[in-house]
Amino acid sequence: MEETKKGRIEALLHEDRRFAPAESFTANANWKDPSIYEKASSDIFAFWEEMAQQIDWFKPWDKVFEGESPNFKWFSGAKTNVCYNCVDRHLTTWRKNKAAIIWEGEPRHSRRVLTYQDLYREVNRCAAAMKRLGVQKGDRVALYMGMIPELAISMLACARIGAPHTVVFGGFSPDALRDRINDCGAKMLITADGAWRRGNRVPLKENADEALKGCPTIDKVIVVNHCVDARDVEMEGYRDVWWHREMDRSGNTVVKPEELDAEHPLYILYTSGTTGKPKGLLHTTGGYLVGVHTTTKYVFDLKDNDTYWCAADIGWVTGHSYIVYGPLSNGATGVMYEGAPNHPHRGRFWQIIERNQVNILYTAPTAIRAFMAWGKEFPEQYDLSSLRLMGTVGEPINPEAWMWYREFIGGNKTPIVDTWWQTETGMTLITPLPGLVETKPGSATFPFPGIEADIVDESGETVPFGGGGYLVLKNPWPAMARTIWGDPERWYDQYWSRFPGMYFTGDSAKRDEDGYYWILGRVDDVLNVAGHRIGTMEVESALVSHPAVAEAAVIGISHAIKGQAIAAFTTLVSGIEGDKKLIEQLRQHVAEKIGPIARPEKLFLTHELPKTRSGKIMRRLLRDIAEGQIMSDTTTLADPGVLEQIKEQYEESGN
Ligand code: PRX
Repeated sequence: MEETKKGRIEALLHEDRRFAPAESFTANANWKDPSIYEKASSDIFAFWEEMAQQIDWFKPWDKVFEGESPNFKWFSGAKTNVCYNCVDRHLTTWRKNKAAIIWEGEPRHSRRVLTYQDLYREVNRCAAAMKRLGVQKGDRVALYMGMIPELAISMLACARIGAPHTVVFGGFSPDALRDRINDCGAKMLITADGAWRRGNRVPLKENADEALKGCPTIDKVIVVNHCVDARDVEMEGYRDVWWHREMDRSGNTVVKPEELDAEHPLYILYTSGTTGKPKGLLHTTGGYLVGVHTTTKYVFDLKDNDTYWCAADIGWVTGHSYIVYGPLSNGATGVMYEGAPNHPHRGRFWQIIERNQVNILYTAPTAIRAFMAWGKEFPEQYDLSSLRLMGTVGEPINPEAWMWYREFIGGNKTPIVDTWWQTETGMTLITPLPGLVETKPGSATFPFPGIEADIVDESGETVPFGGGGYLVLKNPWPAMARTIWGDPERWYDQYWSRFPGMYFTGDSAKRDEDGYYWILGRVDDVLNVAGHRIGTMEVESALVSHPAVAEAAVIGISHAIKGQAIAAFTTLVSGIEGDKKLIEQLRQHVAEKIGPIARPEKLFLTHELPKTRSGKIMRRLLRDIAEGQIMSDTTTLADPGVLEQIKEQYEESGN
């Protein structure tokens, strides 16, 4: 564990700031009886079975749970459909004409509202179009769009017909899109002619055209006309069709939701790991739905008259679980925002909250730190009194940001839920229950009922309260990923082999004397840049694919707003002289290969990289240089002179 982080946590524990839930909040909370924790842990399967009653099933399960790590089945034998639960079942209730999605577009304050009935009609039309164009149960469908309602509609249509989707974040490059499509062998791509981001059009269709030059499995592409005149978009003869034409063609066709096995694949979502290649986590139907339905309802204390806004992007797991599946299965009204928080002005978020009288806001620490840096005068111009609960996710939140969020956004009254989870876990696992748990700024507090987390040392032994170590999970939960698509060995190696019988999260954490969890960050080669997971190896592979680069080593450095930023150290092939222009080119090269989120903040050209005698790059020494720390053990270094050289170059570059 890094000394600086350790010191920060010690200081926090010393302060011991606590915020108890207000009595009025607890009195109305969805969960107000603390015995839920004990009840759930006394029999986790009975607990999840009870939670599963909130879902509609076509056929009940034979067994709540079966299997052994790393292979699990939840609700085996049962049949259900996620789309049916998120849409159809609300139509026979008063929710039929309730707003399901309030969409706020980025430009000119464009806005659309879809009721549950609207959503039903659109999803059916989309499902009919997909079937007509050849998609069958089990086929994979890639979705590459910005934050527009058509993305949620496509996901639900896929779920309706049993075609697993893979959503590719709209900020990813053609290369990243191609790799993901090919890894899962998607048959169809649904994209758009663009997405608005800070007033600019992200060229999604052009990117898709580029990617599809190397995607033999894609037969058809549906294109949403969103940004430009349709006549200006180049459509590829037999391959490309317009979304609006196909939807018209579908008329009012109703597609019966498939009665799917609880373990039928729902989606594949790619995330970065410790190798150069992102892995496709597979989530399935029944257990996932139970997990996200339950956590949405109790962590966000969601009520029917709430307006709920999760400000994440659907390209990441947060959007899957807490914009689409969790809220819609609860029949909630959710806000979906297309664009950037500072477009056309820095008050945009607060304007959206005021205009829609948002009650629950869920966002990332990076966004909060950016709001802090812009100043409280922006939120102060708006009425934020409708807010009654706020959440954070994706990275550790520093207590200063937590306190600022509480004071200037939450008016010193709304509880804050700091939710820890991962793409792999599908649902929030460590989080306060807002009516029950006293919060401490910077701590994700306790495991959700029924979740047994622990902190262990190198040998897998529990570290007593007050100590830190590796964060593990000791019992299964229904929304957990089932495998890595096409690579079950990696599923085992990555998560289940380090500590036998336990799921290893890749995170380190500390538990204080009261048992509160404080997540410290990744212990593997995964970076968390502005809440986005990026593998160091991915960035290194992108760098060495440039003809001028011989070798590259990538590390994470502290960043005041993004939490972490990427620093790259590269050596050039002999004969090439580096200069500022080349540095810029290399940073741009990474942005083009992966996406702008992976562009290194800093890039240094060095003559050599520090290596062990067996040739392994010693990244921790580079980290020491970048963080200005005393060198950790350098005895295994092949050539100690290299470090001095790099240090000099680093200092010369003005850091
Ligand atoms: O390091 C943890 C961090 O984000 C990682 C998971 O990233 P991803 O799969 O992209 O999912 C992000 C959204 C769920 C974790 O291993 N992380 C996530 N939430 C928190 C967090 N770190 C600290 N506190 C959190 N609340």
